[in-house]
Amino acid sequence: MLVLGIETSCDETAAAIVRRDVDGSGTIVANVVLSQIEDHTAYGGVVPEIAARAHVEALDAVIERALAAAGVAIADLDAVAATAGPGLIGGVLVGLMTAKAIAAAAGKPLIAVNHLEGHALTARLTDGLEFPYLLLLVSGGHTQILAVEALGRYRRLGTTIDDALGEAFDKTAKLLGLPYPGGPAVERAARGGNPARFDLPRALLGRESLDFSFSGLKTAVRHAAQAIAPVTEADIADLCASFQAAVCDVVARKCGRAIDRFRAETGIIAPTLVVAGGVAANKALRAGLDAATAAHRARLIVPPGSLCTDNGAMIAWAGAERLACGLVDDLDAPARPRWPLDPTAAPRLGSGQHGAKA
Ligand code: KG4
Ligand code: ZN
Repeated sequence: MLVLGIETSCDETAAAIVRRDVDGSGTIVANVVLSQIEDHTAYGGVVPEIAARAHVEALDAVIERALAAAGVAIADLDAVAATAGPGLIGGVLVGLMTAKAIAAAAGKPLIAVNHLEGHALTARLTDGLEFPYLLLLVSGGHTQILAVEALGRYRRLGTTIDDALGEAFDKTAKLLGLPYPGGPAVERAARGGNPARFDLPRALLGRESLDFSFSGLKTAVRHAAQAIAPVTEADIADLCASFQAAVCDVVARKCGRAIDRFRAETGIIAPTLVVAGGVAANKALRAGLDAATAAHRARLIVPPGSLCTDNGAMIAWAGAERLACGLVDDLDAPARPRWPLDPTAAPRLGSGQHGAKA
């Protein structure tokens, strides 16, 4: 089956065509991603209204480009899938309404996809991974450890109680005067720095919990910078390296803990941990997770960078998996700015700038 996937929940306007064969394997036939980063750089973050308008202007052409690159007509499609949440509501509405219009006009089934499910299922597209497995999702808006048990069955093991990890990178970059997006800038600056110079806090490590907290870490970076002001380039490198070391330490240890718990619960001797989201691009984090999975006798899968960040292929693939199980949606499917993958997990009410990230 051929599925068109549309992604507009944040600052990427994306469309892709994915084929799923009867044996359950998948192929990306076309994958077009238009980043809006330049539209938001001046503001140091994604401005929802600007993002929504940019999606309106770009989406039709992005879909046309994906169809052309695949050599596929709308009539050839088996379904149209779009992100229906969670995300910035204006952008989600643009993508979902476009998908509904195509589905209605062409008489194709609509699949309203949870964006997080797209991230969660990507490793099944890239690596043919079988259920169940562990997922670490670390992006600008989400930080979660999930047990991916089956299609539509996700159990949240841990989440952030305040800032998402990518958000912590972005805010740290901003307070040090580094450009947006902050993650790559912090990683670059950290390369020449001394990770042991500043002893930054590792939150929530003492407990059994798999939850995260990053807002105190960001504040600690601010205090450390203020204490040595004016900061030099070498100071910034040391601050970034120390911040990154703290982050990698916490994430690696929590993932090790999650692997042990998952093994105890499932009896799987060598579980797989999948990493997704923009922060998965961070090399220091990957190295930390490599070490943690080796120490805890688990396999690590990091999909290629272009499929870790937001894209249409993951939405098309989630749509194809759902379609194969007969899971399609009505044309009145709502856009959902908040849509937890695990509806049984209580929301974590933290103090992040954008509210709880659960
Ligand atoms: O998944 P993504 O592209 O978009 C969503 O948030 O959904 O993730 C973007 C986030 C940003 O916060 C960005 O700073 C972070 O991922 N990021 C990184 C790196 N590249 C991107 N964080 C740390 N190191 C990186 N190399
Ligand atoms: Zn995402």
